[in-house]
Amino acid sequence: MYPIELKGVSKAFPSAGKGSGELLILDKIDFAAQEGVSTAIIGKSGSGKSTLLQIAGGLDSPTEGMVICSGTDFATLNDKQKSYHRNQHIGFIFQANLLLEDFTALENVLVPALISGTKEKDCRQRAMDLLEMTGLTERLNHYPSQLSGGEKQRVAICRALINNPDVILADEPTGALDEENASQIENLLLSLAKAEKKSLLLVTHNNDFAQKCDRVYLLTNRKLTLIKDVK
Ligand SMILES: Nc1ncnc2c1ncn2[C@@H]1O[C@H](COP(=O)(O)OP(=O)(O)OP(=O)(O)O)[C@@H](O)[C@H]1O
Ligand SMILES: [Mg+2]
Repeated sequence: MYPIELKGVSKAFPSAGKGSGELLILDKIDFAAQEGVSTAIIGKSGSGKSTLLQIAGGLDSPTEGMVICSGTDFATLNDKQKSYHRNQHIGFIFQANLLLEDFTALENVLVPALISGTKEKDCRQRAMDLLEMTGLTERLNHYPSQLSGGEKQRVAICRALINNPDVILADEPTGALDEENASQIENLLLSLAKAEKKSLLLVTHNNDFAQKCDRVYLLTNRKLTLIKDVK
């Protein structure tokens, strides 16, 4: 069983504007994210990387094919069940960290755990541990507006890990950071994923970041090609 498995996944979008027709973005993609393995997907702008990640995370549906997340086919779940399944099995990190502005760093990290029904006393320590591991012990009660870009992204990483997901999906997690901060966040994300034996699937424009991952796929012509594999 894989944290995420794509079987024959295709995605077509209706062409925008007048006239009919469809735009095929992904064509019969097979892919498995493996436990403890970090995988990067690179490819030109518009090649479908974000679309693939959204489908892998059950945020969008394929036109064809199956997405199986920790043993469950997303297509068998209704919206509510899908949200719950995602909350339990997947941690998401986006380019814009999407933190809740009215909540402190600690509260932002706690949100996914509280949504899943965990009592605060049972998840507070893990949240504080994660924030400590990412060097934010002194920032627990800061609001997002009182954090730097890199610090906000570290909070987003902690939030993605709070529920102990099987897999972390990250879409250009360092895309909005300067080089030095980006490099710190890259190393932090990779080392945390390894330490916690998580599968990490990330999309990046940054080839240096991609090369730090165990596997690298190139998304081109609607297909994934494996271009690096550390055995
Ligand atoms: N909801 C939609 N409706 C129609 N077309 C869409 C939709 N979402 C994405 N597309 C098209 O699908 C293609 C792939 O988009 P996607 O966002 O996955 O690219 P990407 O590889 O992530 O690009 P970038 O590197 O710029 O983020 C694009 O050509 C885009 O126009
Ligand atoms: Mg994208």
